[in-house]
Amino acid sequence: MVTQHPACPQCAVPPGLYTGGVLPRDRPPPRSFQPRRRRLSPTREAAYRSQREHWVLAADGSALDLEAMFAGLPVILDIGFGGGESVVQMAADQPQEAIIGVEVHTPGVAHVLAAIEDQGWTHVRVVEDDVLALFARLPAATLAGVRVWFPDPWPKRRQQHRRLLRAEVIAILADLLREGGTLHVATDDGDYARSVEALVAAEPRLAGGVVPRPEWRPLTRYERRALAAGRAAVDLVYTRVRG
Ligand SMILES: C[S@@+](CC[C@H](N)C(=O)[O-])C[C@H]1O[C@@H](n2cnc3c(N)ncnc32)[C@H](O)[C@@H]1O
Repeated sequence: MVTQHPACPQCAVPPGLYTGGVLPRDRPPPRSFQPRRRRLSPTREAAYRSQREHWVLAADGSALDLEAMFAGLPVILDIGFGGGESVVQMAADQPQEAIIGVEVHTPGVAHVLAAIEDQGWTHVRVVEDDVLALFARLPAATLAGVRVWFPDPWPKRRQQHRRLLRAEVIAILADLLREGGTLHVATDDGDYARSVEALVAAEPRLAGGVVPRPEWRPLTRYERRALAAGRAAVDLVYTRVRG
């Protein structure tokens, strides 16, 4: 269930938690996702309901103790995992890393929850909500990585304010990353890639840029479709430096 932003109290960042990024308090932030309603089959719905009790974290609430939750594993935040293929593959390939996957659409969430149950994983949790509502639960300087793979591109000029990666979000991600942690963005939209480069250039705590597509990054249905349409991905990797 997606948290609403009526007066946006959850976006008012608690004092002291962050050192840089603050979401505007005076207006709800624009939604970076398209609302969609797709039903699960009755069998999947029943499984989803019981599994979410165990593995879904609420976006609102007190600060999360990630150290205790994941027994000290480095934690990766995967924002907007879509169908969940990349979370499932990365969780299987890198069991020495914990993943908090965030997605608003239920079918992808149900897919990841089913994999958690099938595999008996304890290093994966899911947030079924807008990531903006989650930030206030994440202590500063704790994440080993943030993945934003193929954020909705919002290519039309009049839609671009809806892009997830805007200045205040980049600043919050820099707050949340620990020193040496990485922000990895992949996009098939050249204009979005350039906008990320420009935004990060104004953030002295992040250093890096375009890298070759890492072979280990899972090929999702979204990227496959982009490739078929002639749009190759641009990968951008930034390291959190002292600042
Ligand atoms: C274009 S899809 C890409 C999905 C996946 N990362 C992939 O590579 O296949 C972008 C996804 O980000 C999700 N998304 C966009 N804004 C979000 C937000 N603020 N919080 C959580 N998920 C979001 C959308 O629901 C959508 O599923």
